[in-house]
Amino acid sequence: MYLSREEESIYQGERGETLRRMMEILVALGDIYGAEKLVPVRSVQIAGVSYKNIGEAGLEWISDLQGQVVVPSILNPAGMDLCRWKEMGVEEEFALKQQQTIEAYRRLGVTIDCTCTPYQIYQGPTSLAGRGDHLAWSESSAVSYANSVIGARTNREGGPSALAAALVGKTALYGYHLDENRLPSHLVEVEADLRGSDYGALGFLVGRSVKDGVPFFRLKNQQPSGDELKALGAAMAASGSVALYYVENATPEPPAAWQPKETIRLGRKEIDEVYAKYPVAGADAVALGCPHCSGQELEKIAGLLQGKKVQKELWICTARKIAEAHPHLVATIEESGARVFCDTCMVVSPATERFSRMMTSSGKALAYLPGLAGVQAGLGSLEECIDVALGRRQ
Ligand code: F3S
Repeated sequence: MYLSREEESIYQGERGETLRRMMEILVALGDIYGAEKLVPVRSVQIAGVSYKNIGEAGLEWISDLQGQVVVPSILNPAGMDLCRWKEMGVEEEFALKQQQTIEAYRRLGVTIDCTCTPYQIYQGPTSLAGRGDHLAWSESSAVSYANSVIGARTNREGGPSALAAALVGKTALYGYHLDENRLPSHLVEVEADLRGSDYGALGFLVGRSVKDGVPFFRLKNQQPSGDELKALGAAMAASGSVALYYVENATPEPPAAWQPKETIRLGRKEIDEVYAKYPVAGADAVALGCPHCSGQELEKIAGLLQGKKVQKELWICTARKIAEAHPHLVATIEESGARVFCDTCMVVSPATERFSRMMTSSGKALAYLPGLAGVQAGLGSLEECIDVALGRRQ
């Protein structure tokens, strides 16, 4: 891989041991994937934040690094709400380790926003991603949204390679950074009227079928909202490993003419089969906000809970900046007994493990809860989830 004189000097250790190690990671990845060179990134989103996932070895690795990030860099959800971890039921010992992890990132100049929806909290002039920008983001749903809805370019970085990109300010030019890897592989024709959680159910099905392909969706007279596209991409990234998709007339177009290798046709029957296979019955808790809730989603939830009391634990996960921007919605939600937790989510927090069956409106949580949290999952619409939490249905 070609390195400029400055990159070469970092590689040789002339700018210190941390940068040398970080450059070594970037060059190793570039060599494996045949990158021609490094390319500057606009922003970085770093995975490897929940102590549940990184453990002591990860904490030591991050703590050992020196220096400062050189591009705007934020974090993936942590294993707990950084302020209200006790209310989540997180153990003190875990909380201490989680705080040490956060401090290690803070020391490196990383901004302590722990969210999978950076595009919801940084918009306009503070935006972290625009069309055509190269990024180094980690969390699979954020990667999918950045590539597909924003039209930026990022591979799905691991924690170490994202941190390396943050400290060096560059990433290796391969994979989804290149036009040739951004062409659709599958045409997906959907003959159904879709709404809300249907997009998660659809993504759950398509991800399993196309795996790491690039689906191009042709929907029936539909104009999905940003939140619906967020849910679609998140589910495909979890049930498969889709990092880029297109929706006709709703997302940026593919970079060139293309021919699908395969056409998939789906309708209401297949989508309803997902709900039937993962029923809501027997849930002892309900979790919403995977990916993290937007302000509009908080508003919908607040409307459904206003003046009512929940009978089961109901968690709503969001970014701290979104919660802080909507204090009245958070207050309305919490008056019902539900909890709005920030910085974390039902999948990466160890607090979820005390439940046996969780209900969710998210295709991604449906795919991940059993394997990553050891909790059975049921899928329903937002309204059904709220009804279960309110005890209106079992
Ligand atoms: Fe975000 Fe956690 Fe879901 S990181 S996409 S809320 S699994």
